Amino acid sequence: MLRSQRGIRPSLPLRLVGRQREWHTLRAAWGNVTQGHVHFCLISGEAGIGKTRLAEELLAWTERQGIATAQTRSYAATGGLAYTPVIEWLRSEALQAALATLDDIWLTEIARLLSELLVERPTLPRPEPREPSGRDRWQRQRLFEALARGFLLDRRPKLLVIDDLQWCDADTLEWLRYLLHFAQREAVRQHPPAPLLVVGTVRAEEINHDHPLSALLLDLRSTGQVTELVLGALSAAESAELAAQMTNTALDEAVTRQLYTQTEGNPLFIVETIRAGMGGWGETTEPSHNLQSLPAKVQAIIQYRLAQLSPAGRELACLAATIGRSFTFDLLHVASGDEESAPNVN
Ligand SMILES: Nc1ncnc2c1ncn2[C@@H]1O[C@H](COP(=O)(O)OP(=O)(O)O)[C@@H](O)[C@H]1O
Ligand SMILES: [Mg+2]
Repeated sequence: MLRSQRGIRPSLPLRLVGRQREWHTLRAAWGNVTQGHVHFCLISGEAGIGKTRLAEELLAWTERQGIATAQTRSYAATGGLAYTPVIEWLRSEALQAALATLDDIWLTEIARLLSELLVERPTLPRPEPREPSGRDRWQRQRLFEALARGFLLDRRPKLLVIDDLQWCDADTLEWLRYLLHFAQREAVRQHPPAPLLVVGTVRAEEINHDHPLSALLLDLRSTGQVTELVLGALSAAESAELAAQMTNTALDEAVTRQLYTQTEGNPLFIVETIRAGMGGWGETTEPSHNLQSLPAKVQAIIQYRLAQLSPAGRELACLAATIGRSFTFDLLHVASGDEESAPNVN
């Protein structure tokens, strides 16, 4: 199996804790696609909650059965470069095998994204030059169809994973929408497409209704082609299990309680707190309120989230932090001195 250099595998050694219900749902979704369907599963939740880890679990499970898989992810830094995840999928072993069965007329279109195809197959007709913008819609249509045929018509079941959809470019999401529709077409259904499950992960709080993922979801909900999983925090017992797995010893009750209070069951926070504070965090029974004492990764996530707030939102977050861990909306409203309007934290 060709592994992406930027793959998401390194965290696998920790045994999956909890998530029985979600795991069951994912397995059921896979079972359903093997009946000849194309389906999308979305795993959402806050940063560090375990979205990638759950997707990895399914990848590992399917790979153990010899099922073709391909994984990719989006990055905030790529600025939404068009089709980057699709190109990465196309370069995987699973898709390279599928492309080998595709007619040249479609392969030529795919060469628009995968120019190495023209080198590997010198006899492949060159794609027509791109028409000026506005008149290139039919070309995009052909590219979409070529890609859909490449991914679906080789009959081999596949699992595709795409991590961090909040940063995904609009073209990739539009094509995914096309792909799921394509699989529903009558003509295609007469020659059932390859069973295909696309699993995406997303930080839901970073998606507003203008995000192209929202349009995709609305559409798929109407066709029943999406399963949505929302990951919440681990329970106290699961948090303790994760901690014990990392430290290789059962932690005493006070320490586990403190860890749970501090991390609120967020697995990343648990992992990083244990890593950063093997010798320190267990010594106090007071949960820390001090950002400086949090592990670097946890700080980075909090700072990233704060940076996304408007100045008014940031001010309010500082005020909320001063009040303490939990507070009522009314208290925050009064403390903010804004009697006229509800606070707007975005
Ligand atoms: N259920 C779980 N069992 C064991 N480890 C977990 C679990 N969920 C998350 N982790 C670990 O916590 C860390 C953060 O999880 P990750 O999947 O990267 O979060 P997300 O993708 O939601 O930001 C990783 O090291 C991951 O292996
Ligand atoms: Mg992740």
